Amino acid sequence: MLVFKQMEGTVITNSVEETATLGRELAKAILSDGLSTRGKVVTLSGELGSGKTSFAQGFAVALGVTEKIKSPTFVIFQTYAINTSQNNFKYFTHIDAYRLEKKEDLEKLGVGGFFSDPEVITILEWPEMVLGITPRDAIEVFIKHLERDEREFIFKNAPSNFSI
Ligand SMILES: Nc1ncnc2c1ncn2[C@@H]1O[C@H](COP(=O)(O)OP(=O)(O)OP(=O)(O)O)[C@@H](O)[C@H]1O
Ligand SMILES: [Mg+2]
Repeated sequence: MLVFKQMEGTVITNSVEETATLGRELAKAILSDGLSTRGKVVTLSGELGSGKTSFAQGFAVALGVTEKIKSPTFVIFQTYAINTSQNNFKYFTHIDAYRLEKKEDLEKLGVGGFFSDPEVITILEWPEMVLGITPRDAIEVFIKHLERDEREFIFKNAPSNFSI
C-alpha cells in the first residue's frame, strides 16, 4: 500500500526549464515511493499558458518516456510507455480535458480504467472540466502565473519523499 503524508508546499519557478525540473522531481518521488496498488493520478490546474504541459514534459522525462510530450488537446489523451525498472508502472497517460464539459466525456473514452490500473501514471490537465473524476488520493498541483516567467506551484497530497 502506498502511504501518503498529507503535505502542502509552495514552489516558485522562474523559467520553463525550472518547471520541467520540478515535474521531474515529482515523478522521481512517485517512482521511489514504493509499489503501487492503484494507478497514480496527478492533476494540474492553472490558467492557459501557466506551465502545465511544461511540467508534464519534465515529469515524462523522469519516467523514461523517450517521445517528446506534446499537448494532447486535440486527441484528449495520449499514452506512452514508461522505461524504468524502479517501480511497477508501465504506462504514462497524459490527458488534457480543456475541451471537455463533464466527467462522462472522459469516462466514455475509458480513462477511468487508467486511474485504477496500478501500472499507469496519469497526468490530468484541466481537472476542473471533468469534476468528480479525480480519485481521492490524487496528487493535486495548482499553478499560478505570477509575473513574466514566474510561476507558483502549490502541491497537495504529494508523496512524503517529495521534499520541496
Ligand atoms: N516558469 C515557467 N514555467 C513554465 N512555463 C513558462 C515559465 N516561464 C515562461 N513560461 C512559458 O509559458 C508557456 C507555458 O506553456 P505550457 O504549454 O506549459 O502551458 P499550459 O499550462 O500547458 O497551457 P495550456 O492550458 O494552453 O495547455 C511556455 O510558452 C513557456 O515557455
Ligand atoms: Mg497544456
